[in-house]
Amino acid sequence: MSSQAVRLVVLVSGSGTNLQALLDAVADETYGARIVAVGADRDGIEGLARAERAGVPTFVERLADHPTREEWDERLAARIAEHRPDLVVCAGFMKILGSPTLEAFPVLNTHPALLPSFPGAHGVRDALSYGVRVTGCTVMLADAGVDTGPIIAQEAVPVLDGDDEAALHERIKTVERHLLVDTVGRMAREGWTVTGRTVRFGRPGG
Ligand code: GRF
Repeated sequence: MSSQAVRLVVLVSGSGTNLQALLDAVADETYGARIVAVGADRDGIEGLARAERAGVPTFVERLADHPTREEWDERLAARIAEHRPDLVVCAGFMKILGSPTLEAFPVLNTHPALLPSFPGAHGVRDALSYGVRVTGCTVMLADAGVDTGPIIAQEAVPVLDGDDEAALHERIKTVERHLLVDTVGRMAREGWTVTGRTVRFGRPGG
């Protein structure tokens, strides 16, 4: 594996199918990135088991184990920093990151709706209840807000008659996994620039 590969720390809270797509992608040396650690805010999740099966180091920082949110934020940032990431990827990480992590590293997030519509923890449910005919997924840079960071990539997914939240989320996740793998790979290989809210692949002046 190339020592030039961009170092990723991936954060998860659940089943980790987005993480698995990244684990599969980094197996190809030409992808340009490698996963140096997987972190979680809870124990016993399939996302951590996927990392362990792949031989990737893991760590867990539970909010409940810290007296304040600020201390959790500091500790999480320190655990991430131990792995010297070039990029942190939230892949179904269900916590808002605080300034210690956001100021230290670029952070990517993925969301199962077409932002700025339907931010928050229930993007699929909210889109369905609103009655939209098209929803989708968004990969964006994380900032201190809830799904408010600059958008990098989006892809649409139609809502089908008879969809319930689970069925629609599964179809979105199939698209989301590809979009996340494609976006992380391009960022690793090409770099990126941010101008205001606009994110473009490619290095400054390149
Ligand atoms: C993804 O749809 C993510 O955007 C959302 O939760 C899902 C995580 O799925 N926040 P998984 O854990 O990667 O399978």
